[in-house]
Amino acid sequence: MSDEIRVGIVGLGLAATAHIRGYFSHPAAQVVAVCDADPQRAMAFGEQYSVNRTGKRCAKPARFTRPIRIYRSYNELLADRDVNLIDIATPTFLHAEMTRQAAQAGKHIHCEKPFCRNVAEGMAAVRAVESAGVKLLVGETYVFLSSHIKARSLIESGAIGRPLQIRQRHGAWQRRAQHTLHIDAAARAWRLDGTQSGGGRYPWIFDHAVHFFATAEYLMGDAMIDEVYAVAATRGDGHSRAGAAHDPYRTAEVDIPIITWRYADPDRQGVWMRAERLNGKYDYMRGFSTTIIGETGMIEVLGEGGHNLLWNGGQQHLILHRAEQEAACFRFDEGGDHVWASEISYYGQGHINQVHHLIEAIRHNRLVRYSGADGVRAVRCTLATIRSAQEGRPVRVAEVAEAFTAYGDNDAGNVIREA
Ligand SMILES: NC(=O)c1ccc[n+]([C@@H]2O[C@H](COP(=O)([O-])OP(=O)(O)OC[C@H]3O[C@@H](n4cnc5c(N)ncnc54)[C@H](O)[C@@H]3O)[C@@H](O)[C@H]2O)c1
Repeated sequence: MSDEIRVGIVGLGLAATAHIRGYFSHPAAQVVAVCDADPQRAMAFGEQYSVNRTGKRCAKPARFTRPIRIYRSYNELLADRDVNLIDIATPTFLHAEMTRQAAQAGKHIHCEKPFCRNVAEGMAAVRAVESAGVKLLVGETYVFLSSHIKARSLIESGAIGRPLQIRQRHGAWQRRAQHTLHIDAAARAWRLDGTQSGGGRYPWIFDHAVHFFATAEYLMGDAMIDEVYAVAATRGDGHSRAGAAHDPYRTAEVDIPIITWRYADPDRQGVWMRAERLNGKYDYMRGFSTTIIGETGMIEVLGEGGHNLLWNGGQQHLILHRAEQEAACFRFDEGGDHVWASEISYYGQGHINQVHHLIEAIRHNRLVRYSGADGVRAVRCTLATIRSAQEGRPVRVAEVAEAFTAYGDNDAGNVIREA
């Protein structure tokens, strides 16, 4: 294979517009083709992002020599022999099958999270990738965020001793006054659909908990989660006050505001909690943040949409506390976010780090940081969470059968009401 990575992107919504900045900023990558089931969207995206020979984005593509090829069908994109990396940024229900087909076509793959809707379809895709000998990176952006990467390297260097407990806080994500990525609220009905999102009655949890579990294992030195317990919230009048408060997820009848888990090592445990709505205006700390407590110290770190981690009156992005020592503070000023009012560059540098990591893994034949098997494991933890909420008991991750889905007969009420 030539050194050049020639990318075809399928699904041209929010995630694709974050990924494309990663390809444009890497000298070995070219976006040569795009595909969307919506022909108008495909045309608008192709024209907006047509590139010249240097791979730079051009405002007026007609003047340049190498316009992006535009397809309406995924099969056409797969048949394009010039493309050697497929970027799958479609709705969740398409991920595993599109990955399987791309592997069979001999392409490398960057597939968005959640990787699958159950273990069986995820593992079928992983097997196809293995037998084709191609690279697959699941787009788990939380392990590519500069603040999280720094936290992991501090933990690996022994800064807090052995990590024992992780506490994740989900404060409100506040949108920027003007976001700079493509968000088409009308076209995103799949996010609330029990089957297409994969989450049954818990579409928000299904879409997001994979991030929380990936972070919980990444910042615990890859310790595996063994058992989860979810506290569900339900209200008789059809609106849970514990639901997510950002578009389009304002309306779930039931939700999961608290998840606890323990690792295979019984010394270690974790908790995720939603802080946004219940605290209303007093949610002083926005976005995702994590505290990792070790035997000799503690790290506090901001993640997606994070804001207001304070130390001595100043905004920080990561704080390292150790006994008998001054706290060490870190900031990651990388241009801020394209969607959230946050200094943490999630939809900017986080996605760029992720894309560059995959390109380098392909060029130098290295293992990827977040594989298909990792993506399946995070989905399995999420399915254990949903089953725990359904049954009101702790559920071991290994208990989740390969065919179990969140939208099956076991939980038929996929009803989302208008706010
Ligand atoms: N890693 C992250 O930070 C992150 C952020 C946002 C979204 N995501 C994930 O990315 C995926 C896409 O989310 P989004 O917000 O970009 O969605 P979106 O609704 O904004 O865009 C999806 C696009 O896919 C197209 N599409 C649908 N079916 C198709 C098909 N069969 N063939 C070709 N195109 C098709 C739609 O027309 C639409 O343009 C989701 O799984 C989501 O969870 C990840």
